[in-house]
Amino acid sequence: MADRQEAPRLHHGPTGPARGDGFLGDRRVSPEDRTAHPLRIARIRPVTADAVTVTFDDPGHVVGGSAGWYVIVRVMLEGEEHRRAFSLSSTPELAQPPAITVKRHPGGVVSRHLVERAREGDVVDVEPAAAGGFDVGIGAGRRRTLYCFAAGSGIAPIVGVIRGVLALEGGSVVHLLYGNRAPRDAISAGELATMAADHADRFRLSCLFSSRGARIDHRAVDQFLTSRPPTTADVWYLICGPQGMNRTVEARLRSLGASDDRLLVERYQPPHREGAPVPYEGALVRLQDHDCGGRAAAGDVLLDALGGPSSPLHYACRSGVCGTCRALLVNGEVDPGVPFALTEAEQAAGVVLTCVARPLSAEVVLRSLP
Ligand code: FES
Repeated sequence: MADRQEAPRLHHGPTGPARGDGFLGDRRVSPEDRTAHPLRIARIRPVTADAVTVTFDDPGHVVGGSAGWYVIVRVMLEGEEHRRAFSLSSTPELAQPPAITVKRHPGGVVSRHLVERAREGDVVDVEPAAAGGFDVGIGAGRRRTLYCFAAGSGIAPIVGVIRGVLALEGGSVVHLLYGNRAPRDAISAGELATMAADHADRFRLSCLFSSRGARIDHRAVDQFLTSRPPTTADVWYLICGPQGMNRTVEARLRSLGASDDRLLVERYQPPHREGAPVPYEGALVRLQDHDCGGRAAAGDVLLDALGGPSSPLHYACRSGVCGTCRALLVNGEVDPGVPFALTEAEQAAGVVLTCVARPLSAEVVLRSLP
């Protein structure tokens, strides 16, 4: 039994509506706020060999939001508009100008543009996001323990939250377990080390490197928790990394009894899905309140059938994680795909994400949502 550890016990603190994630809850911005604002890139700072932090000039404070919220970046490339949702890596609660940390992905049109070609002084269209996965309600007077689990570029939203909590919540304590391939791949490593030194009594940083055989797995989670017992009654868990890590950590925390309203998972990749039903090719998809519609080609999601970029529906991530493209299913049958951004209550009420849902009936009627 030498290699088995005693399972840590999770401490349950008070619960409450801190996340604002009820049906059509307050984490979403209103339609009027979804217009894109042309913002000048004030600074581009390389943070690893394949990632940069892009800081925008925002003199009118149009981006707003909270640490961990998404912003949506639109870029025109060769006459075609591309949109992508990025988590803020800045901390709006500290009046910081909006910044995103972008890692180059081989197939990512917008990420490659921002990492390889964008220059300081360029103007980029940015709109506030429709959802914020890490809406933890940073504020003076809160007293809590946060356990954060991040890997790779998943650190971006978490570092904004940690910065805000350390600056504004004098009674809160943060523990971060941060995984990367190697030290040179660790985004924000310098700032995190500085924060750990400046707040040695309230912030503990643990780094794991897979090149050295250490990963964020079930055992690492247990060891992390048992070696850092919470010092407050209110305990939060934040997770952001690749799918495998998210699944492992979330499952372990749930098995230990973490409660839904204190366990926040930010996903930036849709999972692979086996056994999905065959979509109805040629289905007529209509948007009732805009009196428009179109036919779904083979494999089309509802958003494609409605015209994609020319659809009246807003969209950003196209992978079910930001919640921007929501619509209400009025008639017909759809395969909802994997709608990460929806709560169970929203799904039960008939809300679908048009970027991942596909038609299963000859006609699908939708209504747009605020
Ligand atoms: S565009 Fe992000 S969930 Fe559909």
